[in-house]
Amino acid sequence: MKYFLLIISAVVAVTSAGHVDLALKDKVALGLVTEAIIELPQITSEIEANTTLQSLSGDEKVAQLVSNLQKLTKSSQFGIVSAAQDLGLETVQFWVSNIILVKGLTLQKLVALEKVEGNFVVREQNVVSILGQEFDKGFNATQQIPQWGVERIRAPEVWASLTRGEGSVVAIIDTGVNLGHVALSPGYAGAWLDPYYATPGPTDQQGHGSHVMGTVLGRENGVGVAPGASWIACRGLNHQGSGTEAVLTQCAQFMLTANPRPHIVSNSWGGGSGDTWFNSQINAWRAAGMIPIFAIGNSGSACRSVNSPGDQPNVISVGATSQMEAVGSFSSRGPSQSGGIKPDFVAPGSNIVSCGTGANNYVTMSGTSMATPHMAGAVALYLAHFPTQGYADVYDAFARTAVKPPLSDVDCGLPESGYYPNYVYGHGRIDVAAAMGL
Ligand SMILES: *[C@@H]1O[C@H](CO)[C@@H](O)[C@H](O)[C@H]1NC(C)=O
Ligand SMILES: *[C@@H]1O[C@H](CO)[C@@H](O)[C@H](O)[C@H]1NC(C)=O
Repeated sequence: MKYFLLIISAVVAVTSAGHVDLALKDKVALGLVTEAIIELPQITSEIEANTTLQSLSGDEKVAQLVSNLQKLTKSSQFGIVSAAQDLGLETVQFWVSNIILVKGLTLQKLVALEKVEGNFVVREQNVVSILGQEFDKGFNATQQIPQWGVERIRAPEVWASLTRGEGSVVAIIDTGVNLGHVALSPGYAGAWLDPYYATPGPTDQQGHGSHVMGTVLGRENGVGVAPGASWIACRGLNHQGSGTEAVLTQCAQFMLTANPRPHIVSNSWGGGSGDTWFNSQINAWRAAGMIPIFAIGNSGSACRSVNSPGDQPNVISVGATSQMEAVGSFSSRGPSQSGGIKPDFVAPGSNIVSCGTGANNYVTMSGTSMATPHMAGAVALYLAHFPTQGYADVYDAFARTAVKPPLSDVDCGLPESGYYPNYVYGHGRIDVAAAMGL
């Protein structure tokens, strides 16, 4: 009897067809959308179960990780890609996540695609945006050096006695980086990808990415936390500051194959809540030993306002504080939809002066976008001094030593006075000197 049931379920599995999201179907019917994502079951658990792979380390592990991801997704995607191509659809296959972008959709083709055998979902592509706001162009940067956020997290004390970040490579996925800026050009490590406009070298018309990178490692006017670190970048957000799932996934793949490979990927973007669509990409970075840092979002001050991917458990997420050590009203509050402590940390994110789009200009911006690169720069300093440490060590060092301001506005479910970690400050405001034992 048991045997019989097994056969029945096997037959059912083989003959099941795909599932098309209803909202997508409506939009395609109206001609509003002609692209979609086909998502197949993710292969993260197969990768994690591979003991041969787990026993490797360094460059060899990453090369094998990439090759396994490519092999497994290619064979998993073969059937549905052939079927889509037979329908005249253009397909773009990815390997860091088991997804395919299809272009040229009509309702007729979508209905035909739905009937194809296999375990897959056809859904709309996710779109996210930058999480910072510019409000004062042309600030006179000479007024306070180092800038207040750099000083507050005690980066200058680390420079004086331990390191300025030499040897650490930080990547950003953002609107680009202004390579022509005097504070940014010396740290460029030579790896750049631009899925949007295919520019051969780093540029940034929008300005957000240059500001973010300036805070990580800008070398002039005391704007950067780790001025000895170097950088690479991918333009995952367009000139309007928004990015699609397909482009961000291309950037995620670039991070695993870039030369040099980054130690840290800083992400000042996000949207939605409880969204898991970027988790395979993040898991691959983590498997490769890279540390993902994400802005928690500017959707505060309501509780449960954290954005994705920052709200996911496998990343370090960062909220924003002011000079008064208060969490910005805009900064998203936890808990996450799954009840987790978010944000993980807070860092300076109000009135941050950093690089602009000129050759040597500085602008002020606020947002969790600006807090995130303070964390990325701090981790760059940390890893430059403790190069063999990983995600868990970094997390623990910053959590143990974070400054815990008095909790005047913690009312998101952990109201006890003095309770840390909590859903507003996380483990507290980072202190990189203390994290590094100073
Ligand atoms: C496990 O990883 C090794 C090393 O990359 C690879 O050769 C092997 O094919 C993998 N096994 C499976 C089942 O994917
Ligand atoms: C910047 O500040 C310095 C010192 O206060 C001052 O001399 C200079 O004129 C200011 N420059 C601008 C552009 O405001």
